Amino acid sequence: MSDAGAPADRLLVVDLAARAPAWTLPDRVAAALREACPAGWRLHVVAAPTVSDGDGSDRPSDETLSVIGEAEAYVGFGLPRTLLAAAPRLKWVHSAAAGVASLLHPELRERGIVLTNSAGVHAQPSAEYARGGILHFLRGFDVAVRRQAQADWDREPFVGAGHTARELDECRALVVGAGGIGGTIARVLAVHGVRCTGIRRRPELGAPEGFVAVLGPDGVDEALPDADILVLSAPLTSGTRALITAERLDRLPAGAIVVNVGRGALLDEEALAKRLASGKLRGAVLDVFHTEPLPAASPLWGLERALVTPHVSGVSPRRFWDRQLALIVENWRRHRAGEPMRNVVDQDAGY
Ligand SMILES: NC(=O)c1ccc[n+]([C@@H]2O[C@H](COP(=O)([O-])OP(=O)(O)OC[C@H]3O[C@@H](n4cnc5c(N)ncnc54)[C@H](OP(=O)(O)O)[C@@H]3O)[C@@H](O)[C@H]2O)c1
Repeated sequence: MSDAGAPADRLLVVDLAARAPAWTLPDRVAAALREACPAGWRLHVVAAPTVSDGDGSDRPSDETLSVIGEAEAYVGFGLPRTLLAAAPRLKWVHSAAAGVASLLHPELRERGIVLTNSAGVHAQPSAEYARGGILHFLRGFDVAVRRQAQADWDREPFVGAGHTARELDECRALVVGAGGIGGTIARVLAVHGVRCTGIRRRPELGAPEGFVAVLGPDGVDEALPDADILVLSAPLTSGTRALITAERLDRLPAGAIVVNVGRGALLDEEALAKRLASGKLRGAVLDVFHTEPLPAASPLWGLERALVTPHVSGVSPRRFWDRQLALIVENWRRHRAGEPMRNVVDQDAGY
């Protein structure tokens, strides 16, 4: 699928035919990319299916491999190493996923290839997911769903001695990762009166809107005892892996709610399951896991206080593609103009 017009010796390969319909490149977006293709460029929109899960695909299709040798720019879900090896002319790679932990091949830096990601693109649906999950436990919907399945008009859990209902504006949240997703979660929660503290790698850059304060990673321990809600929305890097240990979970106040929309390896899942089972924590809203799919043997499946979703908090098919299209077209323009691009991955920091 090459656009007409000569000479066109610069090639952008767009490899976004995800198997999952919610993530597959819509015709309207492919048409808009063709429309945006400038003189001197060709566009190849790969028809072969690819994988959009997690950090994206780890194996390129035969079709992608057959054209990548000519490509100056590549847009896909992730960046398989074999693809990089087959692409000697590559100068810019964009991942339609936000997580890049498995894309940081040393060859990128050695060859001076710019890597951009989709940080922030999933922020709004992730924030709506977090708000919904938090309210699920604050309002006792978890209890209501179980009682309804048994046709049981039991008010005791709501009004008896074990009642746990709280309003959002009674709560304080600690949001670990104050970027696109964490910042939007803070703004959404702040509207409801939640006092949000953020943890970011570079606290010297200040507190984004929605936060009453931000701390650096070394502020986690002091902040946890005040966190009625702990949200994990950081990327997986050497600085965040296993950040929330059993000891840190024990610093949370009794009845706290944990939300993880970042990556499973940010927290000790087994320790979390134990604290949910014992009733120390009110609930956990979990979209990401150490192993995905979450194994059938995981205790999290059976826990009344765990709300488990299969890595779908960022799903928002229409808006995702509106934002993605704008980002790709703008970065394509900046690449041609030699201007600094948006969402450049800091390969030292790992996100
Ligand atoms: N569940 C899903 O479907 C889904 C969808 C999209 C993304 N994600 C995950 O969410 C992550 C964040 O996405 P995003 O769009 O919000 O990315 P982002 O805009 O790049 O934000 C990342 C944030 O994490 C902070 N951070 C980095 N290292 C840290 C550390 N050691 N301790 C504490 N905070 C640290 C950054 O600090 P600075 O602001 O100081 O740089 C920044 O605030 C992605 O990397 C991905 O793993 C999940």
